[in-house]
Amino acid sequence: MAERPYIVGNWKMHGTRAMLSEARAMDRAAQRHMKVEVAIAPPYTLIHPIHREAGQIGVGAQNCHFADGGAHTGDISAAMVADAGAKFVILGHSERRADHGESDAVVKAKVEAALEAGLRVILCCGESEKTRDAGRAVQHVKKQIKASLPDLEEAGEKLTIAYEPIWAIGTGKTATVDDIAEMHTEIRALMVDLFGEEQGSVIRILYGGSVKPENASEILTAPEVGGALVGGASLTADSFMSIALAADSPEL
Ligand code: PGA
Repeated sequence: MAERPYIVGNWKMHGTRAMLSEARAMDRAAQRHMKVEVAIAPPYTLIHPIHREAGQIGVGAQNCHFADGGAHTGDISAAMVADAGAKFVILGHSERRADHGESDAVVKAKVEAALEAGLRVILCCGESEKTRDAGRAVQHVKKQIKASLPDLEEAGEKLTIAYEPIWAIGTGKTATVDDIAEMHTEIRALMVDLFGEEQGSVIRILYGGSVKPENASEILTAPEVGGALVGGASLTADSFMSIALAADSPEL
């Protein structure tokens, strides 16, 4: 892993203020793993309290709207999450695509709005089990990324891709290291195609889908894996920071 590994926790719809103690414990532990960039995306309601206390971990959002503001009851703009302290936003997660019908075009508009608001973006992509079984996983993921990305003059640090096979999310199943390596190598080639060698080769490509302390080392050493997007195992400091510790190993 060439760049500083990036370990991101996606808390999904979990967490009330009672979870602030876990965030504090993560922040303290992250200070012992400075070679790893650790971040969490809590629910909107916890962005500001965690941002206020965090010294080391980054704080981000799990979504934002594409509009600047207006009559969108219950929605939140990119500028609002940035104002609450978010430094990045996860966009295009398969749960949002499924639960809220987010198309590639909607995700693309959100990426544009987020970058405009100064946020870094973690763009999620991934295939269903049916698509993988049909042998179309790589083709599907590349098409999804291309359709979800606006024309960007520079991407570099601002963009991270998270490859999350849908069938591996929250299921305890993970892709094989060979499958992960194949997909990440294809995504790397696409990044270089889209952004040129200099920028395309530094964009981090995370793996997500049932990453746990027990499998983190194996996944993180796969080619072109720049870190992990972690759901269930990011909810306690113990398990999340064991994954960060795996990313802090000298072989990576
Ligand atoms: P999981 O979720 O680690 O619980 O599988 C990953 C994600 O959806 O980001």
